[in-house]
Amino acid sequence: MRFTAGRAIMRAVLPCLLGLALALPAFAGEHKSAAPKHGILLVAFGTSVPEATPAIETLKRDAEAAFPGVPVRLAYSSHIIRDKIEKEGIRKNSPAQALADMAAEGFTDVSVQSLQTIPGREYTDVKATAELFAHMPKGIRHVSVGRPLLFLPEDIAAAAKAILPVLPKHARGEAVILMGHGTEHPANAAYSALQLELWKHDKSVFVCTVESKPAIEDIIPQLKTGHFRTAYLVPFMSVAGDHAHNDMAGPEKDSWASRLSAAGITPKPVFVGLGSRPTVARLWMDHLREADKALGL
Ligand code: CO
Repeated sequence: MRFTAGRAIMRAVLPCLLGLALALPAFAGEHKSAAPKHGILLVAFGTSVPEATPAIETLKRDAEAAFPGVPVRLAYSSHIIRDKIEKEGIRKNSPAQALADMAAEGFTDVSVQSLQTIPGREYTDVKATAELFAHMPKGIRHVSVGRPLLFLPEDIAAAAKAILPVLPKHARGEAVILMGHGTEHPANAAYSALQLELWKHDKSVFVCTVESKPAIEDIIPQLKTGHFRTAYLVPFMSVAGDHAHNDMAGPEKDSWASRLSAAGITPKPVFVGLGSRPTVARLWMDHLREADKALGL
């Protein structure tokens, strides 16, 4: 009697167990083979200068053209810029917000391209934030971060080759000064590496930074010794924004233009950001392509 009852129970339970055993691998398999949802996030520092935003929009369109059908999102990494433009009614996501939105929308594989020029603090923060999103349960499964413009030695050589042909044509006695941002981060050394690379091709092109070394006062004596009477001022930043309009070309006494004028050198500012220079923009897109390849889709 007891035996029969046991058999009856087994008869009832066994199919369930079997069903479960069969369903489990199917369930695990289903999770593993769920179609990936591929997306791209571009991260710019951001700008509060309306004329400078097209440079960033152009980079977004470049990414969309390079990856047809893949949604491309844009984030601004600067809190100050985001707050400033929000007062004017323009809302931009932080990298973390953009990634959280993508995770909530079911994106599984995301390439993040930093539109920074050097691997300084902005880039390091973007990379750290992006990589955290690959560890969220039920979130994005794979994240790959593209390196900034000047990272590997070959990147520096490629950047020099990309910028030189598009600089203003300069005759004897005319210099070109590239304006980098500059940072206290050790990555500031990338500007000196770029300088060495540029000098291999053109000794009248100089690299200076707004916030660090070399500063404009470091090269004015060199310009005088070299008998340069004119200097084109060219932003070496993704956009020709606030630094270009004020620190580089502004009327204040300590702007680059004023300091050069005071030293007897005529400044000629150029308001074109790197993002609006197709030869340079292509390098960021190359880095994005490499990062995206690493997703293994
Ligand atoms: Co700045």
